[in-house]
Amino acid sequence: MNHKRILVTAALPYANGPLHLGHIAGAYLPSDLYVRYQRLKGRDVVFICGSDGHGVPIMLKARAEGVSPHSIVDRYHEVMHRAFQGLGISFDYYGKTTSHTHYETSQDFFRVLARKGKFIRKTNEQLFDPEAGIFLADRFVRGTCPICGNLDAYGDQCEKCGTALSPDELINPRSAITDAAPVKKETTHWYLPMGKLQPKLEAWIGEKSHWKKNVLGQVGSWLQTGLADRAMTRDLSWGIPVPTDATEGIDVDGKVLYVWFDAPIGYISATKEWAEEQGDPDLWRTYWMDAETKLVHFIGKDNIVFHCLIFPAMLAEHGEFVLPDNVPANEFLNLEGQKLSTSRGWAVWLHEYLEAFPPDLLRYALAGIFPETKDSDFSWKDFQTRVNSELADVLGNFVNRALTFTKNFYGGHVPPLINPSEADLGVLEELATLPAKIGTCYEEFRFRDAVFETINLARLGNKYFADTTPWHLRKTDEQAAGNVIHVALQICATLSVLMEPVLPDAAAKLREMLNLKGIRSSLPKGLTGTKGWDDAARPLLEVGTPVQPPAILFNKIEAAAIQTQLDILHQRAAAQHPVAPEMPPEAPFAPLKETITYDDFAKLDLRMGTITSAERVPKADKLLCLQIDLGFEKRQILSGIAQQYAPEEVVGKRVVVVANLAPRKMRGFESQGMVLMAEDRESTLTMIGSEGENGAPVL
Ligand code: MF3
Ligand code: ZN
Repeated sequence: MNHKRILVTAALPYANGPLHLGHIAGAYLPSDLYVRYQRLKGRDVVFICGSDGHGVPIMLKARAEGVSPHSIVDRYHEVMHRAFQGLGISFDYYGKTTSHTHYETSQDFFRVLARKGKFIRKTNEQLFDPEAGIFLADRFVRGTCPICGNLDAYGDQCEKCGTALSPDELINPRSAITDAAPVKKETTHWYLPMGKLQPKLEAWIGEKSHWKKNVLGQVGSWLQTGLADRAMTRDLSWGIPVPTDATEGIDVDGKVLYVWFDAPIGYISATKEWAEEQGDPDLWRTYWMDAETKLVHFIGKDNIVFHCLIFPAMLAEHGEFVLPDNVPANEFLNLEGQKLSTSRGWAVWLHEYLEAFPPDLLRYALAGIFPETKDSDFSWKDFQTRVNSELADVLGNFVNRALTFTKNFYGGHVPPLINPSEADLGVLEELATLPAKIGTCYEEFRFRDAVFETINLARLGNKYFADTTPWHLRKTDEQAAGNVIHVALQICATLSVLMEPVLPDAAAKLREMLNLKGIRSSLPKGLTGTKGWDDAARPLLEVGTPVQPPAILFNKIEAAAIQTQLDILHQRAAAQHPVAPEMPPEAPFAPLKETITYDDFAKLDLRMGTITSAERVPKADKLLCLQIDLGFEKRQILSGIAQQYAPEEVVGKRVVVVANLAPRKMRGFESQGMVLMAEDRESTLTMIGSEGENGAPVL
């Protein structure tokens, strides 16, 4: 479908701490590149974000500091908004979910669903902290992940394996507030019947073959597991009160809307506030209710289930709103080879970055390594290399050469193009293809490719200089040399448009040097310029235009400046006393064993199997005795996993078995093979499974 307008949202960050590079690479910079590109294309686009002010993360932070949740939200709302502005993230509106409009909007939304009979009400037992006297929802409870054995999983999600959990699935749960073992207590909540809605959602997802593979993969596995009904209310003291007129007389005192119910509605509330600001209070409806809107949610991968299944289900059940056209989620960004962790102090904070270096450099360096298909890694050394050898040496250098030549030999004016050579024409032809080519990268959320193709134009320019050697040519054919400079300046002009989404400050500076006017801005309400993205396919500079002498676009970064950043990072990490270290950096992996030949490997007979039963082994606290179905026969195997897995948990698991290992006796039991596991640096074991049928050889 051809869309008339685009509504872009970036996940509302929890207002409970400053932003780090992981946030930026996940949702905010990709969305900004996309939006700036669309604005240059002349499209009608609105870009919405804001602070997520509810939920347990905010309450925990408030508790830790001994202040009210409200003051936490207000403080970090400002800090984050300023940091976003510093990086040039060009939201049309940055709201917060503690606003009056938002309270009304989310209560209305709840009311509509309740009146339409879209919720089901369930009364059941939930975890309750007897010491603190409160129900333990979501992140108020921690325990062992039933899937991967992570000892510190949250009640709503295991951050290690990404699985969404409910508090009662945790093994050995404990209160995150008092560390007490929770008891069970009865309570009533309003659930979205995700189980019942699954077929509808499946049909809808079925039309989304254009979505990113990593997103479809995660959604597919959710659907395959089967969706569970989700409570949309909570017993908490902080949040938006459940509206009393929608609950059929049931006492909802002390009950609030679930943060994942109200937060995405925040996109709608913020659009309302934006419309208000435009002096056209009803304008938000066009963006949210007209079928010709393309709604795009930018998020990190931990938000996939909420944006691809739960929020769409809410929107569809409500009935008045458009559903997302795409949810281009990114994977995670690591830092210097390790998982980012704010609790371990392993993070680069955006506001601190901005004190040290210009925003464009980070935009460029991060966009080149966005975790678009898999996790990626930011390192300061790599940052330095990208700035010095790409921005300075390729882009900056090319612009500098073109302008220096113009100043020295053409009186600072764009020389004419007369009888162009094949090389001149070839470059102009190539240039003509780029807006469409790079545009496709943006449309398809392939931002790394977009950035690569953009800098390639400067590479092309440098190569063109090297091939045509205008400094020699000048002496033999003055006109031909002038043609080269003409074309080089046109490349600069086109670059100044195509690099704008990634490098908005440098692009503006370059246009200033080129005296290039009338280009549409990539900022909100920038539609006034007459020329935009597509015009960059043709020469933008008129012959005779006076240009300025070159100024430096990008300063190189010294090794010392990088060392300073590394020192800050390591000092901060060393100063933290983590509650539960996830992965001590010094813990080494086991060294590699000696090389074996293919024949050595081929001697192993590995097979797929399913654990059909499991029992503890008396007097051996590490061992489970497993019965395993290998398809063609059954095996009994003793496995040293009892400290991590309860017998009930492993039944039904698909595993890989070493099937030709000589049997041996352990504690009086015969073990007929071995089950393969991955053991990480904290000695946590993960079973290795696959889809293959029982008995299938593993090669
Ligand atoms: N606050 C959530 C997080 O930081 C994201 C909320 S996105 C929204 O993970 F859709 F709910 F707004
Ligand atoms: Zn887990």
